[in-house]
Amino acid sequence: MKTTLRLLLLLSPVMLLNACGQGDVSFSGDIQPIIAKNCISCHGEAGEGAMANAYLMTDYNGVMKGTTYGPVIVSGSRMSSSLYLVTAGKTAPQIRMPPHNDESLAEGRGPMLSAATIETIGLWIDQGAKNN
Ligand code: HEC
Repeated sequence: MKTTLRLLLLLSPVMLLNACGQGDVSFSGDIQPIIAKNCISCHGEAGEGAMANAYLMTDYNGVMKGTTYGPVIVSGSRMSSSLYLVTAGKTAPQIRMPPHNDESLAEGRGPMLSAATIETIGLWIDQGAKNN
């Protein structure tokens, strides 16, 4: 009984990965479309997010360069990457991305990303945030 449980716990992350069909996450194939759909309206040239902290997400170099305060991605560690933390809802509501606190919802801004999309971003960072 105990052994079965331990085996299940060991296997579940593997099964989860397989179930999602997740191999290597690709920047151009997976991440860029997410950015285009959810971020670029504000983090493109002259967007409000680009103006506020100069975070320009138009290409890989911009995404990795980060804000005026420095990088927001630590390759290999989603939990050290503020880009992941703000999108996964692990920060104060005021700084979540895309903005979806009560105030911004009232302004007609969208809800947070889907769990699957957030997981894709997390995996991409954990796999080294590659330009692939
Ligand atoms: C409605 C406009 C808007 C959208 C859409 C948006 N952002 Fe932002 N973003 C901002 C603004 C404005 C700031 C600056 C906030 C500040 O400095 O207080 C910002 C800041 C950030 C920061 C820096 C946070 C920090 O304090 O270090 C990150 C990372 C970020 N955005 C990522 C994203 C990602 C990823 C997406 C898409 C999933 C996204 N944003 C979508 C407006 C937006």
